[in-house]
Amino acid sequence: MRLDKFLCDMQLGTRSQVREMIKKGLVSVNETIVRHPDFKLDEGNDIVTYMGNALTYQMLYYYMLHKPSGVVTATRDNHEPTVMELLPDAGGKGLFPVGRLDKDTEGLLLITNDGELAHKLLSPRKHVAKTYYAECTGELTKDRIALLESGVDIGDSDLTLPAKVKLISQSESSYTIELTIMEGRFHQVKRMIQAIGGTVSYLKRLSMGTLTLDYGLPKGSYRPLTEQEVFDLKQSLSAASAHRISDAGAGI
Ligand code: URA
Repeated sequence: MRLDKFLCDMQLGTRSQVREMIKKGLVSVNETIVRHPDFKLDEGNDIVTYMGNALTYQMLYYYMLHKPSGVVTATRDNHEPTVMELLPDAGGKGLFPVGRLDKDTEGLLLITNDGELAHKLLSPRKHVAKTYYAECTGELTKDRIALLESGVDIGDSDLTLPAKVKLISQSESSYTIELTIMEGRFHQVKRMIQAIGGTVSYLKRLSMGTLTLDYGLPKGSYRPLTEQEVFDLKQSLSAASAHRISDAGAGI
């Protein structure tokens, strides 16, 4: 990789700014000052320093976004504001949202350029648990909870997979639950609640696999995932450790 591209990818500046830095002698490769922007380096092995600070090349980026209502989950849209517009300064090329939250759904959304991780998180075979906080209108009976927990007909060829319901509060005509599902079908939560005679009036995703929405993160804001969060997510998706429904929602 060219040295100037490496420095751009590291967010040190624009192509012309990093070229200036290189020409001024601020950049070293393996302890030797390099003044040629087109210098070819082995980004996996060479040690690049800028003003004495070593730079570790990071190609994969992971962000937690607290999605607000009113933005669509897409990289581009001709008519609506997108979630990507909420991360104008995030480093990393080719960022995209993992999975889809409806325009009026809030909560946890992972934004990354790691296609392999996204593929695993969305794979129907991985059964990644997703927990939603849902305020609903309608009546919630024991039978209806049992239906949600065993599998409900939402008009697809198959019933939904068993889900987990945690009752938060209830009145005669409304209820609030945390619902953990192991799939990601289109409008799944809203359709499951509809199938038991209710309507979702507010929906927020709290977690996806091992990743939990950071309560300190204001709506509309984002932050990079910690190394631990990335590690846990990857670890949980490795073939040996499937995330079981009994684990899901624990501690939420
Ligand atoms: N289920 C829904 O109905 N909507 C979402 O945004 C996510 C899950």
